[in-house]
Amino acid sequence: MGMRIIGWGTALPEKIVTNADLEKTLDTSDEWIVERSGIHQRHIGDSTAEIAVAAGRNALALAGIAPASIDLMILATTTPDQSIPATSAHVHHELGLGGGAFDVNAACSGFVYSLVMANGLLGSGAKRILVIGAETLSNVTDWSDRKTAILFGDGGGALVLESVPDEGQLLSWDLGLDGSAREILRADHGGFIQMDGREVFKRAVRVLVDSATRALEQAKVRPDQIKLLVPHQANIRIIRAACDRLGIGHERVALVLHRTGNTSSASIPLALVDAIDHDRLEPNDLVLLTGFGAGMTWGSALIRWQDGPSPMPGAGASVDRRTDLDEREDDD
Ligand code: COA
Repeated sequence: MGMRIIGWGTALPEKIVTNADLEKTLDTSDEWIVERSGIHQRHIGDSTAEIAVAAGRNALALAGIAPASIDLMILATTTPDQSIPATSAHVHHELGLGGGAFDVNAACSGFVYSLVMANGLLGSGAKRILVIGAETLSNVTDWSDRKTAILFGDGGGALVLESVPDEGQLLSWDLGLDGSAREILRADHGGFIQMDGREVFKRAVRVLVDSATRALEQAKVRPDQIKLLVPHQANIRIIRAACDRLGIGHERVALVLHRTGNTSSASIPLALVDAIDHDRLEPNDLVLLTGFGAGMTWGSALIRWQDGPSPMPGAGASVDRRTDLDEREDDD
């Protein structure tokens, strides 16, 4: 038993904050931000539940299934709307889902953690699972701190998964955590993100490469066989360095970072759906999702793409068609 992806969707708040907007309140510049991070703008606004509902609704509509037929919903978020109850309770109610729901906080690796968990549950009785990654990092960002305010944004992405009797689309996975690094990226209750940017950067490249390599080795797949790498969208330089070490060409990377900023657990589904919407995937293509985040967590999942339903206009959130790393270099 395994999983098949039968629907996908995204959501981004309407309000866009550009680097030029940040220049007005921070001692920074568009040039610095683009050069050091690759980010041009980010979307800000709405609650985590509102974003998750919008992304989930788009994914369910594309799958063409009744919300009540969902057995379980997993919401990956590191920015829940409140401590109790889980934000998934709100989302479950608004969408009219069946079965249970719970939140997962594995920071920016949360979507990959949730996908792997869903795959296991689909192999042991669940029929349909909705996995959503949704974040409002703007609520935990100190907008007067130039070291962090330039990086983060809000958004969400979702996949509808169905159980299939064969191996399914998830070929291999790797999840990990080094809790000794928990202080380098943190936010206390009611506080803002505190980050040792250089240390996060250094470790991020290492754990991305190691985790991706483990997932590839498990499935006996070589990097040159990967059609699309879908990395956590944190920093263009982290992504480029990881690609170079893995031996994956920049043209084979899904990228939305330039227009979304770092949206934590939403970033991988946002980038994946963008690639799907731009017809970058064909049946049997191998897709490697790989992320890292606070904790420090990491996670990779190797997927064999299959044709899902045709994307409905508006189901995704793609606006800017420039999606690969080399095109981005033109802007840097
Ligand atoms: N605008 C202008 N200057 C800035 C700035 C900004 N927004 N932020 C920092 N600076 C300054 C610093 O004060 C420093 O000045 P100094 O040399 O006079 O001390 C200089 O720029 C270099 O800072 P540094 O932190 O070394 O820059 P960097 O190249 O490491 O880039 C980050 C900073 C945050 C972009 C980078 O470290 C990064 O992306 N790290 C990973 C963060 C991440 O991915 N977090 C999420 C993980 S899920």
